[in-house]
Amino acid sequence: MLKPGSSALPGRRYNPIMPETARRRVLTGDTPTGSLHIGHWVGSVKRRVEIQETHDCFFLVANLHAFTTRADKPEDIRRDCMEVVRDALAMGIDPSKASIFLQTEVPAILELTYLFSMLLPYNRVMRNPTLKDELKVKGLEDNYSFGFPLYTVGQTADILAFRAHDVPVGEDQVPHLELTREVARRFNKFYCGVPDKAPDEEHVDLGGVFPIPEADVGKVGRLVGTDGIQKMSKSLGNSILITDTPKQVKKKLGKIYVGIDNRQPNDPGEVDPEKNPLFQYVETFIDSDDEVAELRDRYARGDNIGDGVIKVRVAEVISELLEPMQERRRQYESDDVVMDILHDGCQKAIAATEETLAMAKEAASLRFFDRSINI
Ligand code: TRP
Repeated sequence: MLKPGSSALPGRRYNPIMPETARRRVLTGDTPTGSLHIGHWVGSVKRRVEIQETHDCFFLVANLHAFTTRADKPEDIRRDCMEVVRDALAMGIDPSKASIFLQTEVPAILELTYLFSMLLPYNRVMRNPTLKDELKVKGLEDNYSFGFPLYTVGQTADILAFRAHDVPVGEDQVPHLELTREVARRFNKFYCGVPDKAPDEEHVDLGGVFPIPEADVGKVGRLVGTDGIQKMSKSLGNSILITDTPKQVKKKLGKIYVGIDNRQPNDPGEVDPEKNPLFQYVETFIDSDDEVAELRDRYARGDNIGDGVIKVRVAEVISELLEPMQERRRQYESDDVVMDILHDGCQKAIAATEETLAMAKEAASLRFFDRSINI
């Protein structure tokens, strides 16, 4: 029941009490597609491992989003969820610092999705370039489910349910973030009395429920696969998995296509490391700038150093990176251990999002009764 005057009762202009020292909140996630590879490490997980030290982090397994294209394979999706969590833990996500949780265990996300869908014109949702791209790439153009475009609205709720400040994502997710910012602005304006032209950073001070979240776009592009052509992807068979042994890593790198050999014996200056996909690996995995510069230089001059030598060196560094991950992964082999971590993460996610939902319902005159959820 509502207890008027209770401090637990967010008012219309309720501001959560954030101590000066409060950390900024981060929400990000992935649609589960199975085991992680070193492309995931480079593109996102590495950043998450860093940010969990300084931010209040929530990492979402977007298992409901996986149903947009694989509704007929629910068991596969479930297995992929377990794998993705196991690999993220192996890569260094620390469950004592960050909460890892399943989208489908957090009812507030679903409830906010419905509410937010009323705040967005249909045509605005359909104009999203990432959505359009996916429909094309996945060959769904005239044949997609009603739920497919809805996932973009769902993603705004994933983020706003946590009142997240920062959302570390790749470039392709930026249109979803723009949509999220629009929903937050509109909600704060309609239901919290935030003035139309209020600067984004002032929304919460002006009584808005939602901070306007910012995309934290990774600088690292997509790692090219071991075919040397397409981006690394498990389904293309060009990936180095974190479970790969040093022998497998060496073999996979050995096969990388490095482009047409443009080495000209009389004019070694013609050789361009930039054109060689192997050098993306050199740049990405070799920490020492001096070593990178030296390899570049020697390769360009044709100074007795060919692709073979570089491949061996890169394979060595990648295996050094994977070794502690494989060691850690052994702790998480059992499903029970992973389930315990997920249970804890889901509980924390439920607590955070139920608070937001109560605030949002209060603001939108939808707060009739209170509730608590236990799992
Ligand atoms: N759409 C994202 C992807 O496929 C996954 C995702 C779902 C996400 N919800 C999110 C990312 C919220 C950031 C924030 O990669």
